[in-house]
Parts: sequence; C-alpha cells; structure tokens
Amino acid sequence: MTYQDMALPPPCQGGGEEGGRPAGGADQPLLSVRGLTKRYGARIGCADVTFDLWPGEVLGIVGESGSGKSTLLSCLAGHMAPDTGEVIFDTADGPRDTRTLSEAERRRLMRTDWAFVHQNPRDGLRMGVTAGGNVGERLMAVGARHYGDIRAAAADWLSRVEIPADRIDDRPRAFSGGMQQRLQIARNLVTGPRLVFMDEPTGGLDVSVQARLLDLLRGLVRRMGLSVVIVTHDLAVVRLLADRLMVMKDGRVVEQGLTDQVLDDPQHAYTQLLVSSVLQV
Ligand SMILES: Nc1ncnc2c1ncn2[C@@H]1O[C@H](COP(=O)(O)OP(=O)(O)OP(=O)(O)O)[C@@H](O)[C@H]1O
Ligand SMILES: [Mg+2]
Repeated sequence: MTYQDMALPPPCQGGGEEGGRPAGGADQPLLSVRGLTKRYGARIGCADVTFDLWPGEVLGIVGESGSGKSTLLSCLAGHMAPDTGEVIFDTADGPRDTRTLSEAERRRLMRTDWAFVHQNPRDGLRMGVTAGGNVGERLMAVGARHYGDIRAAAADWLSRVEIPADRIDDRPRAFSGGMQQRLQIARNLVTGPRLVFMDEPTGGLDVSVQARLLDLLRGLVRRMGLSVVIVTHDLAVVRLLADRLMVMKDGRVVEQGLTDQVLDDPQHAYTQLLVSSVLQV
C-alpha cells in the first residue's frame, strides 16, 4: 500500500479535497445506536441513547458536566462495553454490532476505520516519540513500510495542521498545548478514518488558540467529508462544526435535531437554559 492510497479519504465519504460535504445518497447510516445504556454500579452513566449518524455528518453532543457525554462516546468507540443496547457500525463487510466483535476485530477497526481525539493530547499521543513518528506510526499500523513515503506523509500532515516543517523531529512534550492538539489531530486523520470521535478537542486551551484550532478542524472536516461524533460543552464549537446536535442531561438525551434549529428554538427547558446562559456572557 502506498501513501497515496491511504491519504485519500475512502470513496464512501464522497467529496475530494475541494468537494465540500458529500451530497448524501448513502442507503444506510454509518453508525446506528439503539437504546444504549451504561451504568456504574447504581449510578447512570448514560441511558437509552438512540440515534443514527449518516456518512459525512457531524453530530455534536452537549450537556453539563456529568451528563454522560464521555461515557456515551467511550461506549460508541469500543473503549467501554455498554450494559444494554446496540451500536451498529457499517464496516467494510457490512453492518456489525460492535458489541459482538472479537477483540482483534475491534482493534483493527480502531486502527483503520475509527479515530479518537482525546481532550488531553497526552492521552492520544506518544510523548516519547517524535512528531513525525507519531504520525508515521499510524500509517505503519495500516501497512505502510516505505520510509520515504511515511516521512513525506508525516511532513504533509504536519503542514496541514500548521506545525512548522522543522519541528518534525521534536517530541510533543516540547510543543505548546495547541500544537500538541494539532499533532494529535494529524495522527488521527492521516489514515483517512471513516468515523472520528472527539471528546472536547478544544477544551483546556486558550480562547485564541481554541478559535484557530476550531477553524482548522472545520476546514479538515469539510474537505475530507468526515463523519464525526464530537463531545463538547462549548456551544460555539457545535454551532461551527455540527450538522446535528444532541443535548444530554443526567445521562439521557433530552433533545436532538438540526444544530441551528435546536440552538435557535430550543424546546427543552434545559436546552433553553444552556442557550440563554451563553447569550448572557
Ligand atoms: N469510572 C466511573 N466510575 C463511576 N462513575 C462514573 C465513572 N465515570 C463516569 N461516572 C459517572 O457517570 C456519569 C456521567 O459521567 P461522564 O464522565 O460520562 O460525564 P461527562 O458528560 O463526560 O462530564 P464532563 O463534561 O465533566 O466530562 C457521572 O455521574 C459520573 O460521575
Ligand atoms: Mg467528559
């Protein structure tokens, strides 16, 4: 497999580099979630969550601290097993309930089809490995072997996330928080994943750094036609990135719909509070 093969988004995502959002037309969701519930002992992590994610769609999940956002994302991404419910992913071999995958199959999906951007870049990077190595490692995990190609791909991705070319041999611990987060994004997107999970990717950064990162993310999502599930408590993030929005409270989805609709005309009292508290700032 050459770098060129891997750098291109899979065909199902439509849209080339300048193609914008896919026009749709897929006949089944990429991810289909039904009645997903996860408890920690007696405490509810998330309960009875149901939704579909279509190819090329960005789903935002918002809600206060402790509302179950990270729990839900962990269950979707296979980091944690839900107690009940279904998570059907449209794999290359057809729809599969991810709960029934073998450990080897799950690990393969994590390497190839899925990406996970953690809130803390340290959880998603190898801090002792160079920036170029962090990106190249993901390519090697999907079969790239040619050193020159891997290095070229890593350099290309560093430039896409605005990391200067002369930092390629630096280790992430020598980077600022914003640079680390951009490196984590490059490491995750280099293999052209079909589904990207993000947990508060702009959390913990300065406001000005957040704005730039958000801009960069929006460009990548649009150009690559990525399918994304993004957790955040920042309504500005969902306003900019998400096509659809899901609002959680106490582990349950209290409202979902098109992002603009939910934010401009919130129906649930909690969403109204969320929206109005932002407007007052
Ligand atoms: N490992 C755990 N053990 C026990 N309870 C947990 C664990 N992780 C989460 N919880 C509980 O599950 C509920 C949902 O937590 P979760 O971390 O999913 O919320 P969140 O929406 O991601 O919050 P935050 O915005 O603060 O990240 C909370 O009541 C939390 O206390
Ligand atoms: Mg969380």
